[in-house]
Amino acid sequence: MKKEISSRGDVELLVSAFYEKVLKDELLAPAFAGLDIQKHLPVMYGFWSSILLDGYGYTGSPFDKHLRLDLSEAMFERWLLIFEKTVHEYFEGEKAEQAIQRARSIAWIFQSKLREMGKLG
Ligand code: HEM
Repeated sequence: MKKEISSRGDVELLVSAFYEKVLKDELLAPAFAGLDIQKHLPVMYGFWSSILLDGYGYTGSPFDKHLRLDLSEAMFERWLLIFEKTVHEYFEGEKAEQAIQRARSIAWIFQSKLREMGKLG
């Protein structure tokens, strides 16, 4: 049964299920090659907890971390598709929709900046 996103455990489930799919996706997986996923996951738990739960858990500059990657519009589309699919697989309600809206708006901002810099393939 689907539930609301209301605890740290829910956020961890969402993020880990999302990464399980991303790391199997032929378009996205190469971007994560060489990254220590066991170190990356807790950062992402903190990022999404701070957005969806309490405002705490992440201090960083997420955009900058994407500059060294060779990202394309197709990759962002796939990333969002997998994210939305994962959210709806497990969750429903206000926070679930908020997660999707935030992901879309951050993806939009990342792409606009990368495009401006001539870095969006
Ligand atoms: C094409 C789509 C994307 C790909 C392939 C991608 C890939 C990555 C990779 C490989 C890292 C690790 C970078 C590193 O530690 O060196 C990373 C970090 C991160 N990404 Fe993405 N990303 C994408 C889109 C997004 C979007 C849309 C969001 C937000 C909704 C996001 C949020 C983050 C955050 C918060 C970090 C952690 C930054 C830190 O370590 O402080 N990413 N991403």
